[in-house]
Amino acid sequence: LNIVKVSSDEQFNQVGAGMIASLLQSNPRAILGLATGSTPVGVYSHLIELYQQGLVSFAQARSFNLDEYIGLSAEHPESYRHFMNEKLFNHVDMDLKNAHIPDGTAADPEKAALEYTRMLENAGQVDLQILGIGHNGHIGFNEPADELHAHTHVVELKERTREANARFFNSIDEVPTHAITMGIGSILKSRQILLMARGASKAEILERALTGPLTTQCPASLIQTHSNVVVLVDQAAGGRL
Ligand code: F6R
Repeated sequence: LNIVKVSSDEQFNQVGAGMIASLLQSNPRAILGLATGSTPVGVYSHLIELYQQGLVSFAQARSFNLDEYIGLSAEHPESYRHFMNEKLFNHVDMDLKNAHIPDGTAADPEKAALEYTRMLENAGQVDLQILGIGHNGHIGFNEPADELHAHTHVVELKERTREANARFFNSIDEVPTHAITMGIGSILKSRQILLMARGASKAEILERALTGPLTTQCPASLIQTHSNVVVLVDQAAGGRL
């Protein structure tokens, strides 16, 4: 594991965006694995700046997002499709037909999950997988459990995850109960992983995930088995590393 500890939000965003940009500069057709949540927002903003400066292009890139809520349409302000459009895609030259996100409105979510697995496998290997980490150690929406799934699947969200995400909704009742998420196997198949975390509330789970035992009760701990991981943290999140 390579740990990069930065001392300001600006550095955090520069380092994160820099990794994505240099990948696209050396391989314009790269496949990106993208995450939502609050952690990558500043990184995506910085990428938009690099695009505006003519330093990076997404025209030939492909992307696969980690997850999507079931029941939220692309127009819903809290759907991850809407998030990605707002925070990145609408502001760069990404061809939206190459930007894949699981379909949260599919009549048959299980089938949509299978279809996503098929698309991912046809695409080949994700070159760089961006990850955030939940307070309970989830990555994507792979929640702590006795068993984890390899491929994209439907998942019931833990109460703690719904509570954490309720800040974006009017009330917790509006937070969807289920999501479609890429599986741990797909995440670990990527060529390189960039795990990002900021803030003191992530320090303990990061320590557990990166230095504790491998366990399905902390899905992020499985990242320790990957041979090419960069962990980007601020001082607070990296306080126990
Ligand atoms: C988002 C995702 C989640 C988040 C995690 C951390 O696509 O898959 O695993 O990365 O919940 O969220 P933030 O960044 O909001 O702390």
